[in-house]
Amino acid sequence: MIGTPLTRRRLLTCGGAALALPRFALAAPMVLRAEPVSAQILLEGDGVTAMLGLNGTTPGPELRVNQGARLDLDFENRIGADSALHWHGIRIDNAMDGVPGMTQDAVPDGGRFQYSFVAPDAGTFWYHSHSRSWEQVEQGLYGPLIVEEANPPQVDHDVTVLIDDWRLEEDGTLMGGFGNMHDFAHAGRLGNFARAMPSVAVVRRGDRLRLRLINVATARVFPVTLSGAQGKVVALDGMPLAAPRDITEIVLAPAQRMDLIVDVTDTLRFDFPTREEPYELGRIGIAGENPAPIGGEISALPEANVTAPGALDHDLVLTMEGGAMGGAHAGEGIWALNGHSGLPDAPFARFQRGETARIRLINDTAFAHGMHLHGHHFHEVTTEGEIGDFRDTTLINRGETRDILCVFDNPGKWLLHCHMLGHQASGMKTWVEVM
Ligand code: C2O
Ligand code: CU
Repeated sequence: MIGTPLTRRRLLTCGGAALALPRFALAAPMVLRAEPVSAQILLEGDGVTAMLGLNGTTPGPELRVNQGARLDLDFENRIGADSALHWHGIRIDNAMDGVPGMTQDAVPDGGRFQYSFVAPDAGTFWYHSHSRSWEQVEQGLYGPLIVEEANPPQVDHDVTVLIDDWRLEEDGTLMGGFGNMHDFAHAGRLGNFARAMPSVAVVRRGDRLRLRLINVATARVFPVTLSGAQGKVVALDGMPLAAPRDITEIVLAPAQRMDLIVDVTDTLRFDFPTREEPYELGRIGIAGENPAPIGGEISALPEANVTAPGALDHDLVLTMEGGAMGGAHAGEGIWALNGHSGLPDAPFARFQRGETARIRLINDTAFAHGMHLHGHHFHEVTTEGEIGDFRDTTLINRGETRDILCVFDNPGKWLLHCHMLGHQASGMKTWVEVM
């Protein structure tokens, strides 16, 4: 299904349909119940979709906590299959990472699991199933997790914008075949219908917004053009930029996030550029004028408390191999990392706590991959050899090589895998251990 066109249906005529994301400021333990839900993914009147969700909705509730606070979540599984939740991007206590078979047992249908962890970094994160993720995330088991700064930047609205695509029948039915090998061997399961889902429907001209973009799709890399607003990029993957950056091009690999602070000049549109006219993903409407705009310079978010990389203790290479139109490899699955498909018995590398490693990620395949490391953020090394963006997921296009620098300071067993979830399912994953 490469090149499956996104269908326009009535999306383009729709004005400002926003997702009413229930928000929860977490003070007391909260039950998070995974269960079948029915979702209005197509426009009102175009049919509903049977999905999986949390507490009755997909996306699941937006969880909001203060930086440094503890989250206590009582996960209840009612989906009719094993599941577990992963807190993507949180530098978390390993036992709470939500990886069945590695950090916990899968939670059976009818079972529960208590997640309790501290969120050390302020920023934009998300949670999703890590059990048959290529199927369960596709079915809707995910939601935003926002960690607030003690002194957040002044804005009129703090807006979460989840971006997803779905493969739907005309009547809204989610197509099956999640484990389709043809999808796995190519770009993954791309949807034929896509949306950006802003948590706010209408704002005033002149309002200042914080936009938290999250690509929750299982396979699609989203380029996004933003119109009707001017501002800066202030964070990537939940980590503040040292200096805000002009909004040049927005590209989000699956699982990547971007925070923007913008001033609204007009109806705000999120478009997916195509060779023809752009495909509208979503919009935020305008009503009225802000009489006293915040205006002024957009400054950097407070710095994260992280350790800078030291002298290299390890210099490693990880080569992505396989897939359609790719070379042969020694692994048994469609994809492989260093000649091995699926989780190896021994970790790709072992680190003493606090060691710095450089990992050269070589994409020797015909497809893009978004490589994600659990429990840590890492620096991308720029083509000039300088220390670049601090992320938890890095997009490596076909034929590209990217070096990352990471201080492995969080003890435990951590996955390192492609976040094109079908690639992960068919071999592209490994793990590291921090002693
Ligand atoms: Cu967002 Cu291993 O996952
Ligand atoms: Cu991949």
